[in-house]
Amino acid sequence: MARAKSKVRARAKKIEVRRSPVRAGAKAKAKTKGRAKAATAKRAKPQKFAVSRLREQDFKTDGLRAYAQYRDLGINDATGGLAVAHVIRLKGPCDPKEVSKLHLHKADFQMIYVLNGTITGFFEGAGVHTMKTGDAWLQPPSIKHKVLDYSDNCELLEIVLPGNFKTVELET
Ligand SMILES: [Fe+2]
Repeated sequence: MARAKSKVRARAKKIEVRRSPVRAGAKAKAKTKGRAKAATAKRAKPQKFAVSRLREQDFKTDGLRAYAQYRDLGINDATGGLAVAHVIRLKGPCDPKEVSKLHLHKADFQMIYVLNGTITGFFEGAGVHTMKTGDAWLQPPSIKHKVLDYSDNCELLEIVLPGNFKTVELET
């Protein structure tokens, strides 16, 4: 009986030894997760409830592109700079000489949703895509891209993190 017990103990020890690297990995993972959580908590700024109503006078021409009007949705202000969201109206007709310039955005996240019209773009590694009303796409950080064409009535919703992201022009 004693022998059987010690056999069981020995077996349990073996299993424990075998498991230990996994446990160590799980511990390290939990530690990393904890650190990431703490970093996120440190970075997170208080957010406030914000509403943006549709008003024609809020479409401004002093944004990134001269051929576009931007309506800021107040997200940058409400999130303490975490993200920016704006509606972009592209002014037609599209002039590829002005518009089709390769560039990239230094951002952590960027997605675009087509509210109206169509837009065609080139995306490095993904090729040429025409997006229509209701389509959406994600632009991974620093993907090189350019607008090739858009319809006169093209309207987009763009959400980018962080709110003060930078743009690098690769063609002038
Ligand atoms: Fe862009």
